[in-house]
Amino acid sequence: MRCFALTLLLPACLAFQLPFRVPFFTKNVTADELDQPTVVKGSPRIAIIGAGAGGSSAAFWISKAKERFGVDVEVDVYEREDYIGGRSTVVYPYGNTSLPPLELGGSIFVAANKNLWRASDEFNLTRREFDAGAQTGVWDGHKLVFSFGDGWWDTIKVILRYGMLSPKNADSLVSGVIKNFLTLYSSATPKWDNIADLAATLGWSDLVSNTTADFFTQRGVSKKFTYEVIEAATRVNYGQNVDAIQALEGACSLATTGARGIEGGNYQLFERFLNHSGANVHLNTKVVSVTEASSSSHHWAVKTSAGTVEYKAVILAAPFHSTGIEISPSLAAQIPKQQYVHLHVTLLATTSPTPDPAYFGLPAGAKLPNMMLTTYEGARAGGKEPEFNSLSYHGQVREGEWAVKIFSKDRISDEWLNKLFLGKVGWVLRKEWDAYPQLPPTTVFPPVKLDRGFYYVNAFEPLISTMETETIASRNVVDLLLNEEFGSSICGSRISPSDADEAHTAGQTTSNDKDFVIGWDC
Ligand SMILES: Cc1cc2nc3c(=O)[nH]c(=O)nc-3n(C[C@H](O)[C@H](O)[C@H](O)COP(=O)(O)OP(=O)(O)OC[C@H]3O[C@@H](n4cnc5c(N)ncnc54)[C@H](O)[C@@H]3O)c2cc1C
Ligand SMILES: *[C@@H]1O[C@H](CO)[C@@H](O)[C@H](O)[C@H]1NC(C)=O
Ligand SMILES: *[C@@H]1O[C@H](CO)[C@@H](O)[C@H](O)[C@H]1NC(C)=O
Ligand SMILES: *[C@@H]1O[C@H](CO)[C@@H](O)[C@H](O)[C@H]1NC(C)=O
Ligand SMILES: *[C@@H]1O[C@H](CO)[C@@H](O)[C@H](O)[C@H]1NC(C)=O
Ligand SMILES: *[C@@H]1O[C@H](CO)[C@@H](O)[C@H](O)[C@H]1NC(C)=O
Repeated sequence: MRCFALTLLLPACLAFQLPFRVPFFTKNVTADELDQPTVVKGSPRIAIIGAGAGGSSAAFWISKAKERFGVDVEVDVYEREDYIGGRSTVVYPYGNTSLPPLELGGSIFVAANKNLWRASDEFNLTRREFDAGAQTGVWDGHKLVFSFGDGWWDTIKVILRYGMLSPKNADSLVSGVIKNFLTLYSSATPKWDNIADLAATLGWSDLVSNTTADFFTQRGVSKKFTYEVIEAATRVNYGQNVDAIQALEGACSLATTGARGIEGGNYQLFERFLNHSGANVHLNTKVVSVTEASSSSHHWAVKTSAGTVEYKAVILAAPFHSTGIEISPSLAAQIPKQQYVHLHVTLLATTSPTPDPAYFGLPAGAKLPNMMLTTYEGARAGGKEPEFNSLSYHGQVREGEWAVKIFSKDRISDEWLNKLFLGKVGWVLRKEWDAYPQLPPTTVFPPVKLDRGFYYVNAFEPLISTMETETIASRNVVDLLLNEEFGSSICGSRISPSDADEAHTAGQTTSNDKDFVIGWDC
């Protein structure tokens, strides 16, 4: 029953690595100098705004074209924070770097996420399993409606409650989505300047334009299964209910079987992308505006807290409305206002091996699932909504002390934590994220290309919002940019699918089809 691995567990990792040093601006500039654009002599330059999954991988893809075809270009990456990784970053319990780090944002990826999988291989980063032995419960705010693990008895329990057909049909719908998703790594991958076209090409239009609830219930999945099991997945992964979120993200929420994370933190993938790219990384450097350059046409003046530099092309790799970047009104008007889910993440360390069973209406000493998910069904029936989206134990901080992660819509108070963990809370860290887009069914997406030489990676997010898909979106953007401005691409001049087949059968590539990943193997 592979669709039951609805886990987003955070393991305790024993190893960690210190990040490498990245250069950043130390020179102070005057207000006058800030506005005076610098035209850097030498190679044409590209600016990348944001050093998360999208921006760091964009730099990496560009470096592949430099390496393979000698594309003459210099890359500057601007990041307003003092770290690489954006929504993927770690914290240490008690701020003690001797203890295993915990993911504060993006935590898991799967084998079908071929760029991150391949990157962890190439960069010698260790993947850790997440869902081993997880017991999952579904809480509706009043009662524990269901709980299951991965044993045979749990499979029987699932069948007794939901029947055979619903899990099977849900699973085959998810498999269909994954199958089409994988074409994005083949040499015949579509390239797109319009997300709606891409969705249509991949056969995803119905998914994206319907709610998860409508889509699944119209295809042989019972209401009970949809509103309990699938909703538990959409609520933990995207903080949204099945009658609100579009069905492509609903399907992605279920595709977490075999979840992995990088030991020591996923952010290391993004550090390595940048490190291997040879780009100039400017941390603590906020971009304030991107405007047309006056000196030469189709160039862009990027103004940051450290000065203004002119670029042949700009890649925006952050959600536009969260950047505070000023662009011309006509450019800004193209980007539909996008709401993000404002998520409260509460991490804590507790010596209580489980939450208080009494809170869940269970007798003292009752065994509780280590991963508590939620459904909105209690509220639909007129009751109160669960006070959290998910609450999960993530292994030991040290002997006799556990790490717990809570996702919620509202702030979780100290009193509540003390009640739930019987006064045994040693450390708490709270973080609020604009975590992922609100994803109602839609047919309208932001443009991938805002103007000549100005591209937008996060246009992809309202379709699917994950670390992996940001690396796919950046690959596409880099290909468009290299094509239009440099007459090149990541894999050089286009080869047709039939040429690619010939190349493979002639043994010109070292990988077989199954392992082939476009951009890496070309
Ligand atoms: C709690 C949580 C859990 C998640 N779980 C998962 C998961 O398990 N698996 C998964 O795949 N995804 C998960 N996600 C989603 C995933 O983290 C994101 O989709 C992905 O990391 C986005 O990458 P990005 O590079 O597009 O954006 P970001 O990571 O947001 O990077 C954008 C960067 O741009 C910088 N920036 C913004 N404005 C400016 C400016 N004006 N000047 C300079 N720099 C600027 C920001 O500081 C940021 O570093 C989760 C997210 C959250 C918050
Ligand atoms: C830059 O300015 C800060 C304060 O604004 C000052 O502390 C610092 O020494 C200056 N650095 C340089 C290199 O001038
Ligand atoms: C950090 O954790 C280690 C391992 O448990 C412990 O030995 C050390 O004393 C801790 N450091 C501080 C400052 O608490
Ligand atoms: C990864 O390890 C292999 C084998 O030990 C080595 O050949 C390779 O250079 C390493 N790659 C990186 C990026 O460190
Ligand atoms: C929803 O799916 C149905 C088929 O299942 C399709 O006909 C329809 O166009 C989709 N979109 C909307 C908005 O209903
Ligand atoms: C990459 O990391 C190494 C150390 O691991 C460092 O010496 C080098 O300067 C880094 N390169 C870039 C481009 O940041």
